[in-house]
Amino acid sequence: MRVTMATMSRNYNDAIDALNTLQTPYAVIEARRQAGLRPDAQSVKEMRAYLARIGYSSHDLDRLNILHVAGTKGKGSTCAFADSILAHYRKRHEIPKKSGLFISPHLIAVRERIRIDSKPISEELFAKYFFQVWDMLEKSRAAEDVVALGTKPIYARYLTLLSYHVFLQEGVDLAVYETGIGGEFDATNVVDRPVASAISTLGIDHVFVLGHTIEEIAWHKAGIMKSGSPAFTVEQAPSALRVLRERAVEKGVDLKVLNIDSRLKGVQIRPDADFQKKNATLAIALVETALSRLDRSFASSPEALPQEFVDGLEQVVWRGRCEIKLEGKVVWHLDGAHTVDSLNTAARWFSGQCVERTGPKALIFNQQGRPEAINFLEGLYNATKSAADGSSFQHVIFCSNITYAGSGYKKDFVNRQHDPEAVKRLTQQHAFAEKWALLDPSANISVCSSIEEAINRVRDVGNTVGEKETVQALITGSLHLVGGALAILEGDDAL
Ligand SMILES: *[C@@H]1O[C@H](CO)[C@@H](O)[C@H](O)[C@H]1NC(C)=O
Ligand SMILES: *[C@@H]1O[C@H](CO)[C@@H](O)[C@H](O)[C@H]1NC(C)=O
Ligand SMILES: *[C@@H]1O[C@H](CO)[C@@H](O)[C@H](O)[C@H]1NC(C)=O
Ligand SMILES: *[C@@H]1O[C@H](CO)[C@@H](O)[C@H](O)[C@H]1NC(C)=O
Repeated sequence: MRVTMATMSRNYNDAIDALNTLQTPYAVIEARRQAGLRPDAQSVKEMRAYLARIGYSSHDLDRLNILHVAGTKGKGSTCAFADSILAHYRKRHEIPKKSGLFISPHLIAVRERIRIDSKPISEELFAKYFFQVWDMLEKSRAAEDVVALGTKPIYARYLTLLSYHVFLQEGVDLAVYETGIGGEFDATNVVDRPVASAISTLGIDHVFVLGHTIEEIAWHKAGIMKSGSPAFTVEQAPSALRVLRERAVEKGVDLKVLNIDSRLKGVQIRPDADFQKKNATLAIALVETALSRLDRSFASSPEALPQEFVDGLEQVVWRGRCEIKLEGKVVWHLDGAHTVDSLNTAARWFSGQCVERTGPKALIFNQQGRPEAINFLEGLYNATKSAADGSSFQHVIFCSNITYAGSGYKKDFVNRQHDPEAVKRLTQQHAFAEKWALLDPSANISVCSSIEEAINRVRDVGNTVGEKETVQALITGSLHLVGGALAILEGDDAL
């Protein structure tokens, strides 16, 4: 779609509007799915061509000293840990000078995906660089003609391209990159010489794009390993590990399979679980590799972690995960869990938090575009029901993906990739409601067309509780829901 930018003003909102025109509409995604089209080697060639159009070669990316992370589970926490360790190290040693972090999806605002020194870049900076990239793509003529002049990459790819421009212009000298989908053909895979790469725990995800078996998925994720750069992973299903090892040999990569770092003993990792310690282990290995290159005086000891590492790991901030907010008579518990396992963990965390409190419990749940999500509900119910009478939440609300009752989505949340009719008809929400009624006939179940209405309904319940009581509310099911809820609870500028 062409938008004539010359006539438009160019603030952050304009940038988000322009960005949203780059989303692939639901109908196109469906057509592609039916035709069996998926990203391939061509997609990476195109990314390289776009990179050239905005004036960079993949050689320029070497200045960013990239730590590249792929995986099915835990890549977000691995990146968050690495970034947090770097922040603490920088505070004391001024190395790196500036660190970058590129992650997805965003919780509240698009600019959360592109961070410098852990903070989302400002709206001004985002808008400035966004339109520089936009204009360069419209005007430039690069030698390569893999992509037609004047075209732009789709949403997530555009943001990846933008991140390179932002980081290079702002003098970032160490950047952590999380892949979007897969690895081999991911938009971030134009990095030829990362400082190191890490592959977190593999499982089955994005089967349409990556394939149905763990071997196929492992093949894709292994695509971020590059010869000349060390690579790390953790214990994996044997068939997945075999593929990772084969590809490492092909590429001449020294792949290390790490056990939980013994130096984590005594370090407070949240949640205190082995899986999270594996994520921390990967982060430590990545940062140690980077600092050995950037800081001559850095020496890692096999006995104990440097204090900056301990602080970084213990003080990592991860919004929308196990987050609690008090508001009048409601205690909000927010967790962006959206898989069977993580919902279980979230539900147990919530139940643990409720032990000391009295008053009704409420659930706000959303999932969009994944019909299989109906199977998430039983686990959630099981993990929260009382042993005495089988009741769990007194109030259960299934809402749509839409943020606000009146004005619809916050621009940062506009997503054209879901069937708009299904969202409007609340098809999935009604199916969830029927399922919950079977699980817990005593619950007061409702369906809402926006996140805001759902929140207001729980606030209303808060007005009816006794003096010593509070409503314990759990908001979970998708990051998008949690992001929308935080935007409402904290106001528009919440980040
Ligand atoms: C850490 O990694 C595991 C897999 O090893 C994953 O299941 C888990 O979700 C990750 N941690 C968090 C907090 O998500
Ligand atoms: C929930 O609990 C019931 C009864 O104990 C059990 O049959 C069922 O398999 C459990 N389901 C899940 C998803 O945990
Ligand atoms: C809706 O929810 C899904 C699944 O949680 C998410 O991927 C998507 O980005 C959300 N947003 C919109 C506007 O549909
Ligand atoms: C169910 O909850 C709604 C608010 O969410 C309230 O208006 C209604 O009275 C409740 N009904 C029962 C039976 O508790």
